[in-house]
Amino acid sequence: MSESTASAASIARYRPETRLVHSGTLRSQFGETSEALFLTQGFVYDTAEQCEARFKGEDPGFLYSRFSNPNVSMFERRMIELEGAEAARATATGMAAVTTAVLAPLKAGDHVVAAKAMFGSCRYVVEDLLPRYGIQSTLVDGLDLEQWRKAMRPNTKTCFLESPTNPTLDVLDISAIAEIAHQGGARLIVDNVFATPIWQSPLTLGADVVVYSATKHIDGQGRCLGGIILSSEAFIAEHIHTFLRQTGPSMSPFNAWVLLKGLETLAIRVRAQTETAAAVADALAQHPKISRLIYPGRADHPQAALVKKQMRAGSTLVGFEVKGGKAAAFRCLNALKLARISNNLGDAKSLVTHPSTTTHQRLTPEARAELGISEGFIRFSAGLEHPDDLIEDLHEALAKA
Ligand SMILES: Cc1ncc(COP(=O)(O)O)c(C=O)c1O
Repeated sequence: MSESTASAASIARYRPETRLVHSGTLRSQFGETSEALFLTQGFVYDTAEQCEARFKGEDPGFLYSRFSNPNVSMFERRMIELEGAEAARATATGMAAVTTAVLAPLKAGDHVVAAKAMFGSCRYVVEDLLPRYGIQSTLVDGLDLEQWRKAMRPNTKTCFLESPTNPTLDVLDISAIAEIAHQGGARLIVDNVFATPIWQSPLTLGADVVVYSATKHIDGQGRCLGGIILSSEAFIAEHIHTFLRQTGPSMSPFNAWVLLKGLETLAIRVRAQTETAAAVADALAQHPKISRLIYPGRADHPQAALVKKQMRAGSTLVGFEVKGGKAAAFRCLNALKLARISNNLGDAKSLVTHPSTTTHQRLTPEARAELGISEGFIRFSAGLEHPDDLIEDLHEALAKA
């Protein structure tokens, strides 16, 4: 098996779209155009000596698919070269990536500071899981830099945030928070799912680690789960490599193959979905049945200046609050014909979510209110349908809300 010519070290001179198609390709002796699928748990060795050398790390081949696999390696390499990271490890799901990146480097007695506006399962990891193992956590209003500063303690090892946030699309100042973290001797981990690697590069903004749920835009066609952690060689070697190998939340070779093919179309999909989300946001902004609309690409977004500074474009998601609370939101969701009710996002099919009864139902009503997740709030994930069809669908559904 050989690395394709385009995936050699010189790849850095190519633009992201080109890297998404070529980076990391490993060709077998058959010279296939599309990456082959290596659906194998393990590998055989020519000799016992070679097997011994591989286990000792002296021979660079593959050992066992819990450790590494050609498809998983190709996916990791393509992501590394897109993100501008030194190293990466793929995981079975986005939550496996988040849990590993947050938990693996820590020990009892350490402290974590995180923004309270985040995906419900990520908040569970920080708020409920870590303290059970003696790792204290402080949740802050991620928009308030003073709160980040005040929350730092001598034993703070990790700061964690997502931006834009799920589901209210707040945009947090990654550079400023990275500076606060570094001044306190901590690392910053950024969940970049909502921004996508196309619109935001947290490592260049000062973050130390980036995590993705590849289940979202990277697959982008609703087929499989996956996750990835990207950072420096040193972070992966010291904290992630052995943890993943020994605890086993590995990405399946089949999923890696699907995600690798997903990456080839990521840029064009995200661009089209972002244009559609912007069109939907503009069409609904003044709707009489909507009390609040939030879209990071609009001039009326509360952090519009920061969006311009740290993102290359808005988002594929729009949030809006239907007047009349849960009953009105449910009438709207149930009346939609094209956009389907689902808790996923970033898919080719437009999807709508009611966060207060799904992704954030675990939080108390007070905690949801604090985050702006009202009973009437709907998260819209733009797909690849024609924007006018989606806008007509939303107008018809809102008429029934
Ligand atoms: C921001 C964010 N992070 C992490 C995850 C977890 O990803 P997965 O479902 O692939 O475990 C999700 C969605 O589920 C998410 O929206």
